[in-house]
Amino acid sequence: MVHSPGSYQRTYHASLEDPEAFWLAAAEAVDWDVCPSRALDESRAPLYSWFPDGRLNTCVNAVDRHVAAGRGQQPAVVFDSAMTGVRGRWTYVELLERVSRFAGVLRAAGVERGDRVVIYLPMIPEAIVAMLGCARIGAVHSVVFGGFAARELAARMEDARPVALITASGGIEPTRAVEYLPIVADALALTTGTIRTVIVKDRPEVAGSAADFAASGDVAWLDWDAAYADAGPAEPVSLRATDPLYILYTSGTTANPKGIVRDNGGHAVALAWSMANIYDVGPGEVMWAASDVGWVVGHSYIVYAPLLAGATTVIYEGKPTGTPDAGAFWRVVDEHRVKVLFTAPTALRAIRREDPDLSHLAGHDVSGLDALFLAGERLDPETFAWADAGLHCPIVDHWWQTETGWAIAANPRGIEPLPIKPGSPSVPVPGYRVEVVDSKGRPRPAGTEGNIVIRLPLPPGSLSGLWAGDDAYRNAYLTAFPGYYATGDSGHLDEDGYLSVMGRTDDVINVAGHRLSTGQLEEALGHHPAVAEAAVIGVKDALKGQRASGFVTLKHGVRIDETILRAELVKLVRDHVGPVAAFKDVVVLQRLPKTRSGKILRKTMRQIVDGEPVRVPPTIEEPAVIDDLVAAVRRQHHDLPAGV
Ligand code: COA
Ligand code: AMP
Repeated sequence: MVHSPGSYQRTYHASLEDPEAFWLAAAEAVDWDVCPSRALDESRAPLYSWFPDGRLNTCVNAVDRHVAAGRGQQPAVVFDSAMTGVRGRWTYVELLERVSRFAGVLRAAGVERGDRVVIYLPMIPEAIVAMLGCARIGAVHSVVFGGFAARELAARMEDARPVALITASGGIEPTRAVEYLPIVADALALTTGTIRTVIVKDRPEVAGSAADFAASGDVAWLDWDAAYADAGPAEPVSLRATDPLYILYTSGTTANPKGIVRDNGGHAVALAWSMANIYDVGPGEVMWAASDVGWVVGHSYIVYAPLLAGATTVIYEGKPTGTPDAGAFWRVVDEHRVKVLFTAPTALRAIRREDPDLSHLAGHDVSGLDALFLAGERLDPETFAWADAGLHCPIVDHWWQTETGWAIAANPRGIEPLPIKPGSPSVPVPGYRVEVVDSKGRPRPAGTEGNIVIRLPLPPGSLSGLWAGDDAYRNAYLTAFPGYYATGDSGHLDEDGYLSVMGRTDDVINVAGHRLSTGQLEEALGHHPAVAEAAVIGVKDALKGQRASGFVTLKHGVRIDETILRAELVKLVRDHVGPVAAFKDVVVLQRLPKTRSGKILRKTMRQIVDGEPVRVPPTIEEPAVIDDLVAAVRRQHHDLPAGV
């Protein structure tokens, strides 16, 4: 593709100067039942919606229309499990058959338009079928990542109040099979019972099936294959553009996850636009997002965007290393002729640790790889330099969040590939007016760090709200900086308009690209009978970017062996939050460092553990606590830098 210099600037300015014209033009990439006559609805500002009078069905746009356009024989989904060896592909015709009949299964189970359906599935292609099946009949899916434990699943079910749950006998991790059905049964027991049906995809590799539970309680447990064999296809329903497509829970500052709501119309328009303009992937080309359907990256770039664009998507069950080796990604890229690969920097660091010289590239033809996109955490310049030197394709960092659903800052390769600056996810994406402000909302000069905010309205595809309601949405995102959406990230813009995203301003941490709340982990630690107080902070980790580090004080008079206590606390977090928390560090303290008003000095604690210069605020309650903390951390982390 030939790109004229300045295309990005022109496109960006057009998107901000006349969003109405810009997004109505973008909406032409989508098939509507009723074409929208206007783009932005500002009548409820600062709550905005897009394409208010348009009607469509997202599943039709992702599947049916490609068959109707004569591309039914093109591969739609490639599945590849490094864990079981199962590999295959479905054409668009086959995907349509599977999705419409699975939608029939949901209909037969009494699932209606607007009902919520929780999906708790591993990385098998049925996850795509389940999501699109919901979209077809207007049911609102809520996918929960398989690495979360029963309580986290239950918390999401309690908020979304689903009528059905779709799961499998389990997932397969390198060291073990993860049986999902006991987790599902526990979650059902913890919730107040809105679920009427559980549909189970039986995997021969993992024990457990619907039949094991069929006789229990008021819930009907159906075997996926049996129900599918009996089902007829369901026709798609016509939905308002503003109707919810899905809820995806993500961690916030509190222990309770926030249910991000995505609409149908704005989402389809934005994702279709992003495929052409950011990723430069079109019909018939192959995109592989090596993420998980439980995260937003999986929603947008394993499932919806590639299919909306008529491309081929790859769903991969496996890790970047150890399944079987650090060449796993290059094998998949080669075998499936991947044009664009998307993963998290932690995956690159894992490969680098095992194979610093990229010797596993030999024997794989990755010449078809046009670009490697990264997101989920900052792409540190060192990892960038390593990948850039070894991979011979552009290494493109881009920044986004569950809330936005697609990139806020990126190098828009489909519009105009811009020079890459290591450490920066490049420039704001058209539609996003990104600014950096101080705590009072005043603009920060170029090059100085501050809160990254986005001037309202957010573009199509961004969250339409929170499932918990408008007030919850306003309080979480819109009140800190009136007129802006607060991203919760800090960073700076440089003289050329390039953004750098340096970290969170709240209690969210990012472990191996997985977003967790320290509050969620603290709550779990607080369940231990010996624990009086707990604080969890995110500290630097060479592989995972960050890891959670816990600090606890004990109740008065409690005597317990510290090694046993630590093991119990690690297990507690695993049982309450899930293995994904990868929680292993616990330090036992006499007291937590606090200000005189009782605020825990998390930043000071983090500086101590990270070996940074420590700044103790003058408002500290008892300065001596810092010495105890340093000594305790030193006992546990023998690698603490000298001079701390
Ligand atoms: N179901 C059940 N358990 C899961 C799981 C899932 N879907 N995903 C991870 N886990 C478990 C792991 O088995 C591990 O358990 P263990 O403590 O018994 O070993 C634990 O959760 C921690 O997993 P993880 O953080 O993934 O660490 P890891 O050592 O297994 O792998 C990486 C490290 C870097 C290879 C891996 O995290 C990775 O590939 N990350 C890519 C990040 C990514 O895709 N992010 C999504 C946003 S783009
Ligand atoms: P999630 O909602 O799980 O996608 O996590 C979003 C958060 O991950 C953001 O708010 C950032 O803190 C971080 N993040 C994602 N992508 C990047 C990136 N490219 N650079 C820096 N931080 C990122």
